[in-house]
Amino acid sequence: MLSLANAFSDEELEDWENRNARLIPEVRAAGYTLEVKIDGAAVNLTYEKGHFVLGATRGNGTIGEVITANLRTVTDLPLTLKGDDVPALMEVRGEVYLPWVGFRRLNERREREGETPFANPRNAAAGALRQLDPTITRARRLRLFAFSIEVLEGSLPITSHSKMLAALERWGFVVEPHHRRVDSLAEARDAVPAYEAMLRKLPFQADGMVLKVDAIPLHEELGVVGGRDPRWAIARKFAPEVAVTQLRAIRINVGRTGALNPWAELEPVEVGGVTVSAATLHNEELIAQKDIRVGDWVEVVRAGEVIPQLVAPLREKRTGKEVPFVMPDRCPACDTPVERPADEAMRFCPNVSCPARVLEGIVHFASREAMDIRGLGYERVRQLLADGLIDDVADLYALSAQQLQAMEGFAATSAAQLVAAIAASRSQPLSLLLFGLGIRHVGKTVAQLLARHLGSMDALAAASQQDLASVPGVGPTIAEAVAHFFAEPRNQDLIGRLREAGVTFEEAQRIVTGGPLAGRTYVLTGTLPTLSRSEASKRIEAAGGRVAGSVSKKTSGVVAGADAGGKLDKARELGIEILDEAALLRLIGDAT
Ligand code: IVH
Repeated sequence: MLSLANAFSDEELEDWENRNARLIPEVRAAGYTLEVKIDGAAVNLTYEKGHFVLGATRGNGTIGEVITANLRTVTDLPLTLKGDDVPALMEVRGEVYLPWVGFRRLNERREREGETPFANPRNAAAGALRQLDPTITRARRLRLFAFSIEVLEGSLPITSHSKMLAALERWGFVVEPHHRRVDSLAEARDAVPAYEAMLRKLPFQADGMVLKVDAIPLHEELGVVGGRDPRWAIARKFAPEVAVTQLRAIRINVGRTGALNPWAELEPVEVGGVTVSAATLHNEELIAQKDIRVGDWVEVVRAGEVIPQLVAPLREKRTGKEVPFVMPDRCPACDTPVERPADEAMRFCPNVSCPARVLEGIVHFASREAMDIRGLGYERVRQLLADGLIDDVADLYALSAQQLQAMEGFAATSAAQLVAAIAASRSQPLSLLLFGLGIRHVGKTVAQLLARHLGSMDALAAASQQDLASVPGVGPTIAEAVAHFFAEPRNQDLIGRLREAGVTFEEAQRIVTGGPLAGRTYVLTGTLPTLSRSEASKRIEAAGGRVAGSVSKKTSGVVAGADAGGKLDKARELGIEILDEAALLRLIGDAT
């Protein structure tokens, strides 16, 4: 897979066309396609007779990794193509990316759970593609834009790049919509400022625009430079937005998991049209590495909407009054000595009653993604804690409108509304309650897997670490964290009080009536050739069947893949039907 040469100015674009025209004068009249350069992970998708058969990363351009199962989780990727002019064998190239919303959500979660946030959506997307477990890839909700075709067998009677994009769309791919054909380089240059402005507003990270010679027959004639960069395309890059300001202080935010997150309080400065007064500093190693000192003049960049980053201190501007930063040994919120696990770059406050952790935990519980208690944000939770009306999330359910009304900032209506919102949260499903409880490593997806597979809070609390680890998509680390949570007397007490408060402890099972697998229960074991565990579970459930974690006399069939172990033996022992993936798909009547 080829790469792209860069041009940082309009003059460099002129030079590029002049060099090409010396080789082939016709390029000047061939027109160009202008596209957005998507900053994600390049992928190569093989389609045989219109079916997606193999997906790979770009790797070093020659050798990439096979990531077919993970790519199948990308919703924009068509598994079967539409149309009767699809070549018999072809490769489609494209870019897998993570939109800003997903990137922000992912990083917020990572910070909440004490993990290091990703520096940019590209790293997050590339990381998701390399996951061993496709359920993790799916949870990241990656997207895909296709941008070119390489026909290997059969033919495609298309002679321009712009028509190739149209064919991709016709067959079912998503093509980045801001592409256009222009007749000349002058027209392309005129379009540059508008592209630069537009790029900053896109819902995903873009790192430039791409100019491509529109006439495909000229591509081969122009050839490739150094085996890497085709002469027929070039990326026009833009300088990132940078500003210089002064670092007022380094502050610490204590997260829900107790992670101490340092951040920079800045003298407000405008970067790319937005006033920035804070920037993340990630962790103490980064501060030490960059030798960032309080009082320093610092460079701040903002690429698109990403959280502003502090690039580097300007050492030449130092006066000697700057103060090196020392990470505190005690939690700034509760003064408990902090801990630093050997394998982590973060320090943690170990005190589960730390007011900062409690505050963050309750706000998370009430958040839209969890119990969805409207009107219960930081300010109100802070107030309720300070007034001694609540100590934890279970106390929320005992609040009365009278109590709230007596508090500052509440009127009769707002008090009644909050009480109603809290009451309504009682019927949120178990998966959201579990997510809201903030158990380490239990994000939304894992909470859903656990709730779906175990069905109730009681079953979860009673499950052994082994039972938990056998839930498809749940690994040993998660199982350990969940078992640990339920073993803690403090948490048992909390769960007991939530039960008394009438909070839903069940997950409504999705009931599919009819369907080829109605009334049947299957157990999955081993690695299936193309489907991930959760994908196979979903297919079985969609066909009316149920998926169980262990084999019993009630099991209708065991779907076994490579390296199947004890469950397969048990199935043989009990004389239960054993199927492979193909047999399962035949039963479901869906081979895609
Ligand atoms: S064309 C000429 N078009 O940028 C063949 N690439 O820096 C190479 N990229 O590896 C690619 N958006 O992953 C092309 N509209 C676009 C692109 C694009 C993003 C990526 C691609 C490539 C990298 C090169």
